[in-house]
Amino acid sequence: MASPTSRPEPALSWLDSAIRVKPLQLADSWKKQQVEDALKKIHLTGAQVLRIKEVFHSEVERGIHEQPSSLQMENTYIPELPNGTEEGMFLALDLGGTNFRVILLELSNGALIRENVKRYHIREELRLGCGERLFDFLAECVSDFVRSQNLGGTRLPLGFTFSFPMIQKGLDVGILLTWTKSFNCPSVVGRDAVQMLREAINRRGDTHVEVLAVLNDTTGTLIQGAVLDKKTAIALILGTGSNACYIERADRVQHWEGQRHGEKEVIIDIEWGAFGDNGVLDFIKTDYDRKVDENSLITNSFTFEKYISGKYLGEIVRVIVVKLVEDCVLFGGTVSDALLTTGAFTTSFVSLIEQDTVGNNCENTPEILDKLGLSYNADDIAIMKYICETVSNRAALLVSICTATLLERLDRPDTTIAVDGSLYKYHPRLKSWMNKYIHLLAPEKKFKLLLAEDGSGKGAGLVAAIALRLKQRFSQT
Ligand code: GLC
Repeated sequence: MASPTSRPEPALSWLDSAIRVKPLQLADSWKKQQVEDALKKIHLTGAQVLRIKEVFHSEVERGIHEQPSSLQMENTYIPELPNGTEEGMFLALDLGGTNFRVILLELSNGALIRENVKRYHIREELRLGCGERLFDFLAECVSDFVRSQNLGGTRLPLGFTFSFPMIQKGLDVGILLTWTKSFNCPSVVGRDAVQMLREAINRRGDTHVEVLAVLNDTTGTLIQGAVLDKKTAIALILGTGSNACYIERADRVQHWEGQRHGEKEVIIDIEWGAFGDNGVLDFIKTDYDRKVDENSLITNSFTFEKYISGKYLGEIVRVIVVKLVEDCVLFGGTVSDALLTTGAFTTSFVSLIEQDTVGNNCENTPEILDKLGLSYNADDIAIMKYICETVSNRAALLVSICTATLLERLDRPDTTIAVDGSLYKYHPRLKSWMNKYIHLLAPEKKFKLLLAEDGSGKGAGLVAAIALRLKQRFSQT
């Protein structure tokens, strides 16, 4: 790949203008200048974009070859996609957000013919407490669900979606590396989540479930995407957290514990949320990003996720807004208690304000500012819209840069990218920006973004079915 500095200037200025957001329109030129100065570093330049692309490519290469890298590039040990023979009843567990889901899936010829779901809220003291208590709670939910479905005596194969970074030593071994999002039970770090789940289930001894596979939500999304569209080879989660996985050539994958069985391909869970944790992205880090990190549950980790995901986009906006109020540029220099509260400006607010910008109206923004107890005028509204646009656009660009790099890595002429997550679903123009930027950055590759919902549920059931198939096949060889 050419280095950014060796690129001819015209190409860069073309890229610069293609990624630029519409300039802020304000009658007050002093204010306009202040806002532009404050946001200058959030706007990526074409040169930075190309540099990020190079850095991501090199981190992918290093990770896959087990060299030091901020990308874990974890082998999921899933070497094949659903093939239409999946049959029977499966349980899926989905742990990643504040709600835990238990799902019963019935498959016939690979198609879903029944799905029953129950959600269980996980209280904060469980999310931030002792690991055994968390897993005892999960086992209690499984038991409650199985009872509610009158399946007490039935043997049920289970796929466990555990959407956190883990080291996999096989399809049913997942050692937690670090918690992310809103979980932090220190005693689980370094331990196998599947083993902890099995132990908790055995402690109760009232169900007959067999945990066959542990997977990440991106993996489930890829599997679910493949059912909808056979060209699916990449999956993204753009939600509270963010991550990606893709189908890699098995001969390129160095980390492979246990016997190989002639696998040609395997799904790799990138864990791109941690991209930059080793400092390789420091050239785009702003003071606002540093502040967001300081205020986060787990500092100095998940650098990339803090630029792009739903848990943090609103917080980036809030931190910028507070700075502009302190500088007397916004709200006449008066803050509210809500505005000073970490997490109070949610990413759903960003999506709503973006809806106003896209629709060229002004319905949601005043409502949100009222909710936050702020007094505002027309300039404040215009500035708020501009901040949300700038922060959202940076996220869209960053996601697109990495996705384009993955597309180029795959030796396929036409690839479907399965996507799920609240940010992707509710942000009014993330998708259109992504279509534009991915095309810009991987012009030779044909691709399609496909919403593939509930991979963590349906995908987990399918992965359990694949695991069962592989187990049967390998036991015969
Ligand atoms: C976090 C987790 C990752 C997950 C993502 C999306 O980044 O570490 O495993 O895939 O969130 O939920």
